[in-house]
Amino acid sequence: MADRVNSPNVVNIADLRRLAQRRLPRVAFDYIDGGADGEVTLRENCRVFDDVLFRPKNAVAIPKIDLGTRVLGADLALPFALAPVGSSRMFYPRGEVVAAAAAGAAGTAYTLSTLSGCRVDEVGAGTKGPLWYQLYLVGGREVATAGLERAMKAGATALFVTIDTAVAGLRERDFRNGTKELLTRNPWTMLPYVGQFLARPGWLAGFIGDGGLMDFPNVVLKDGPMSYADVGAALEQSTVCWADLRWIREIWKGPIVVKGLMIGDDARRAVDEGADGVVVSNHGGRQLDCCYPTLRALPEVVAAVNGQCEVLLDGGIRRGTDVVKALCLGARAVLVGRAYAYGLGAGGGTGVARAIDILRADIVRAMKLLGCPAISELDGSYVTYPAEWRPAPTASESLARV
Ligand SMILES: Cc1cc2nc3c(=O)[nH]c(=O)nc-3n(C[C@H](O)[C@H](O)[C@H](O)COP(=O)(O)O)c2cc1C
Repeated sequence: MADRVNSPNVVNIADLRRLAQRRLPRVAFDYIDGGADGEVTLRENCRVFDDVLFRPKNAVAIPKIDLGTRVLGADLALPFALAPVGSSRMFYPRGEVVAAAAAGAAGTAYTLSTLSGCRVDEVGAGTKGPLWYQLYLVGGREVATAGLERAMKAGATALFVTIDTAVAGLRERDFRNGTKELLTRNPWTMLPYVGQFLARPGWLAGFIGDGGLMDFPNVVLKDGPMSYADVGAALEQSTVCWADLRWIREIWKGPIVVKGLMIGDDARRAVDEGADGVVVSNHGGRQLDCCYPTLRALPEVVAAVNGQCEVLLDGGIRRGTDVVKALCLGARAVLVGRAYAYGLGAGGGTGVARAIDILRADIVRAMKLLGCPAISELDGSYVTYPAEWRPAPTASESLARV
């Protein structure tokens, strides 16, 4: 397996994506790869990194680069962590456990989605690194409270409350691939779509060996774990609102991060509600299409919180240079989603480890070429970016200039 995901077969994340496409049935690959509507934001999240250009400080010899950083009270060996990716168990047997283990082995954090296929205690036991937990309110407040208590008991330190999923985005690929029909468990309804599984015997053997269609063991309803059903409807009945942060704060003992905001006003509101961090995120272009790419929104959010909480970013990160650019624009660290999900789909834990290695090596190389010895020293002096990204000055700043 390691050979398959090593150089020269795999030299970048796009290569892992190609391998994932070959191993996974279309319905699973497109679930990872796809975005909402016309996928404008999905594409822009990636493309926008091209608008930020480096300004290297040359003739600087740096024998060792310090990639370590402290995020939400945890010391990470890398300036990126793994984002919550729901249903990872569909990509590889015990997907969340193996992804978390790979993150921990690399010295970084893994964020477990509420909508995952492995139990939070198993994921916590399987990683040496920090475990973070992502919250959806599916099932209601009581169900969520019990989930939070299990997550804390399993050793999860930080909580990510996702606020950009009032309804599920329209992911057109999922309709075309028969996601809904395949979940009916009615053989006649499923029949037109099952050919894609037979075309991927390796994945199919793993899927059956892992118990077949997963349920959601971290969402325990009255009659047991929530079954793999219409997640969209469940999300729609459980929109997270600002007021929810108050009761969540009473239960969760560690740092709370608001994930999925794109404008300065929301970031300030998160700070006012006591958030310890925010993630500038549009859910990887899977929710509201045609919204800003995240990197474009970052300077506004960084200015809005004005150092009062940690700012993370996710969306579109496919290279280590993307990580470096986000840090130069003020992010404390970033989360990567598809970059590791492709690795998981391509080759399980080995694939995730390879994705992490690729990003790590990219970052080290970029920092040496930039002449910057440590993550903590990356700042705006290493990049140039379009002037219109700069947040408008506040009224008092404008007056000070007169
Ligand atoms: C397949 C998939 C499933 C996801 N599931 C969740 C989830 O359960 N909870 C959540 O907050 N975000 C979820 N996200 C969004 C990611 O946490 C993250 O915001 C996004 O993937 C970042 O963009 P990137 O994939 O371009 O790195 C998911 C993303 C993908 C690709």
